[in-house]
Amino acid sequence: MNHDTVIILDFGSSNNQLLARKIRGANVYCEVLPFTTSLEEIMSKNPKGIILIGGSSSISEENAPKYNPDIFNQGIPVLGVGYGMQLMTVELGGAVEQSKCVESGKVEIALETDNELFSKITTETNCWMDSTFQVSKMPSGFNVLARTRNCAVAAIGNEEKNLYGVQFHPEVMKSQTGIEIVKNFLFNICRCSADWTMASFIDASIEDIRKRVGDKKVLCALSGGVDSSVAAALLYKAIGNQLICIFVDHGLLRKNEGDQVEEVFAGQFGMNFTRVNAQERFLNRLANVSEPEEKRKIIGEEFIRVFEEEAKKIGKVDFLVQGTIYPDIIESGVGNAKVIKSHHNVGGLPEHVDFEEILEPLRDLFKDEVRSVGLGLGLPEYLVWRQPFPGPGLAIRIIGDITFEKLETLRETDHIFREEVERAGLSKSINQYFTVLTNIKSVGVTNNERTYDYTVALRAVNTKDFMSAEWTKIPYSVLEITSSRIINEVKNVNRVVYDITSKPPATIEWE
Ligand code: XMP
Repeated sequence: MNHDTVIILDFGSSNNQLLARKIRGANVYCEVLPFTTSLEEIMSKNPKGIILIGGSSSISEENAPKYNPDIFNQGIPVLGVGYGMQLMTVELGGAVEQSKCVESGKVEIALETDNELFSKITTETNCWMDSTFQVSKMPSGFNVLARTRNCAVAAIGNEEKNLYGVQFHPEVMKSQTGIEIVKNFLFNICRCSADWTMASFIDASIEDIRKRVGDKKVLCALSGGVDSSVAAALLYKAIGNQLICIFVDHGLLRKNEGDQVEEVFAGQFGMNFTRVNAQERFLNRLANVSEPEEKRKIIGEEFIRVFEEEAKKIGKVDFLVQGTIYPDIIESGVGNAKVIKSHHNVGGLPEHVDFEEILEPLRDLFKDEVRSVGLGLGLPEYLVWRQPFPGPGLAIRIIGDITFEKLETLRETDHIFREEVERAGLSKSINQYFTVLTNIKSVGVTNNERTYDYTVALRAVNTKDFMSAEWTKIPYSVLEITSSRIINEVKNVNRVVYDITSKPPATIEWE
């Protein structure tokens, strides 16, 4: 695709994606690469600019990550952020030392000179600093561009070579004019064009897909989730009925969800679409199973089996579609987080499907970009804004063994909760919310009669990355109406509780 590219070279920053999102938000395409990427590979991407961003390492530590110093001689603008500025300073002949006064938090920086990096920024602006070092010797050809009260060097620049360093973090929200500084680097220094838009992405992808696929056949496992839905819609736009979609309905979906998926893809789009109604098969396999990991394993295996059986009927296909998105790729490089739950993603790779290649049309996009592509392709809002839903579906929201009756009870309660959250206008501000059918039964009283029925838990969280999460402070009035509707409208439930645990120590799902 033809667009300007900026590379973020990551030395272990937890903000790498945040910065990438800011840059994409300014309509410039950017990629995050680990510092182990060779200079050759970086240059092969023909970048208009490079940003070095680091974590908490100090350049004087023994195993501090380094990089090929030739990166500074490519005639391409480089911005070093935090650790990136230390690295730039030292590699270019300057020196840094441990700061006597640690500067961290919100600090005011004062500009020393007029400079393109700070153009249109007032002489004093707040920035987020997390720094225990200071430049003690400037590399030659560099000037001090900004300082703080305690730190004589907060930003440096070599205008002739287009090399810049900032000690603060322009990517974090708390940096008042951070985004302006990033934009100044992109547009004044790298001279990027703002040519990364979702409309241009759709046009360019369609062209790419047509070229690559030709008149061949493509198979897609639709789960009804945002990513696979958008991938399918994009492919359909590019190659029409050469795309074959299989939707395995395992019966563990939310109320009406299976029908909605069918309505959109078979009805509205008119796709080559098969819905496999496999509810009974899954329920039979899950009978009397209560251990969560066992449930996941069974559902994962059965899903692949059903998909393979359907695919066999179609025969050989040339491509298989995967709804991989950009954060999946960045995160898969880290791989040291302990497995707490085995996250089987529906749509994982089947072994016995006859295909030649994998197509991943969304692999360059962040989630919000995927959503705008979906809307641009005419997918309905409710599908594009669907909250994340685990592959094993409602099976891991029923504690203990699963029966059809329990699934129906859970679907009803979940539906009511979702309706009330939507009615209160909160559906886009809560990242995930659902109900859980606990296997606790307790005593209640209805119409002067003793009852002994299920307890339903409401769960709602706010999170950036789903690795940690805060429970959402939903207004009492919304909880109240949800609870009373559940009790009045759903059989077999006589108690509703609200889960007020964050992650950690709890996980988002109950199983
Ligand atoms: P936890 O419960 O681990 O959930 O805090 C984090 C996110 O992952 C989702 N989740 C799953 N997704 N298969 C999936 O595809 C799974 O087995 C699974 N378990 C949890 C969960 O809904 C949340 O968004």
